[in-house]
Amino acid sequence: MPADPPKTFYLETFGCQMNVHDSEKVVGTLVQEGYRQVETVEQADLILYNTCSIRDKAEQKVFHRLADFKKLQAQGKKFGVLGCVAQQEGEKIFERAPHVSLVCGSASYRNLPSMLVQLEAGKSPAAGATPVRITGLDDRQTDECFETEFTARTNPHRGYITIIEGCDKFCAYCVVPFTRGPERSRASDAILREVRQLAELGYSEVQLLGQTVNSYADPTARRMRFSELLLAVAEVRGIRRVRFTTSHPSDFTPDIVEAIEREPKICDHVHLPVQSGSTRVLRAMQRTYSREEYLEKIAMMREANRPIGITTDVIVGFPGETEPEFEETLGLLEEVQYDSLFSFKYSPRPNTPSLSMSDSISEEEKSRRLAILQDTQREIQAAKNARLVGEQFEVLVSGKSRRENQWNGYTTSHRMINFASQERELLGTYVQVRVTGAGPNSLVGEHAV
Ligand code: 5AD
Ligand code: SF4
Repeated sequence: MPADPPKTFYLETFGCQMNVHDSEKVVGTLVQEGYRQVETVEQADLILYNTCSIRDKAEQKVFHRLADFKKLQAQGKKFGVLGCVAQQEGEKIFERAPHVSLVCGSASYRNLPSMLVQLEAGKSPAAGATPVRITGLDDRQTDECFETEFTARTNPHRGYITIIEGCDKFCAYCVVPFTRGPERSRASDAILREVRQLAELGYSEVQLLGQTVNSYADPTARRMRFSELLLAVAEVRGIRRVRFTTSHPSDFTPDIVEAIEREPKICDHVHLPVQSGSTRVLRAMQRTYSREEYLEKIAMMREANRPIGITTDVIVGFPGETEPEFEETLGLLEEVQYDSLFSFKYSPRPNTPSLSMSDSISEEEKSRRLAILQDTQREIQAAKNARLVGEQFEVLVSGKSRRENQWNGYTTSHRMINFASQERELLGTYVQVRVTGAGPNSLVGEHAV
């Protein structure tokens, strides 16, 4: 008798790098349980959304998706909500979207196999009947969350490794400490073991992940500092690039810059979210540093013996942000000359301290400030990138364009380059590329042989 065709699942991921990596763990677990991943909702028996709740817009997206595909429930398809919205909203999701069968936060992914068994045991509901409901909303936030047995790495060129989960900073606007729980660092020996496994699988670039990656505090007797961990990862045979994100300015210490100076394998790129250029707003945001203290961190990097690419996150329209305070942020962009930035309109989030401050800036005004900020940054980037024409960089080739002989990839400082090469196969290799042109968001070049 032929075996049953494998059960199929579709998974869509929203949000940050941590979610992308969590999805790799979910895919690995489901495949191990006999499921097959498919590309469309229509082909799938089980439809999963790994959700983000950092801003309201991100949260609404998942409810729109669930509404769009609700009718498919009649075909026996099941729906699951994973990640931060699951953790934040919990069983309320069943009220809002009654066709959902599974709600599971990121701390519970190791229990997915047993939840899948329960899910399968629950019969497909008759139209109108309540479907089976399964929740995994573990808030014990134990260290076990790091150790998922199976990970299906979906990025063939960059291996992600979570080294610290959760966050203890409690910035006034941020939901992360509530959705991902308290800060927990992973044992350095477990991290290094995973790096060695990745290298054996052929990965030469790894990215260490954490909401505040540089707040890493090794729980083992070795007590490795974050900078020591970076150096140890770089020493693993086969590793050629070590990235890390996201860094918090208050924990960004000189030894991290020294490690970058000492070890070329540690990438010359630091993502250092500033959020605002006004000390008054930073205080209201509970960001634990002033504008001046932040600029000292930037100066430390600018003094390094090799150039370091610096990127950031900015929020506009935080409650009470005045026009002059917003202008301080614009001034900071001019001063720092970031290589790129992510910018957001303030969005009030459940549970956060800033929820009790009146969201005083109108949506229209937030949009105006965002547009000005983005225009300012676009000009900075265009001018900075134009100065790179004629230079040569090493690129890890990670994409092939539909246009013939066109490839793309990233420099160590995380600049994207599209380039021409006559070579037939370059994916996953390191090549030298000479920059021939530049736009605000990427560079154009040619393979230098
Ligand atoms: N509103 C707008 N932006 C936010 N971010 C985090 N919380 C909010 C919020 N409530 C932004 C910050 C953070 C990035 C990941 O998302 O800039 O660094
Ligand atoms: Fe959120 Fe602040 Fe923690 Fe970053 S440091 S995850 S912005 S609370």
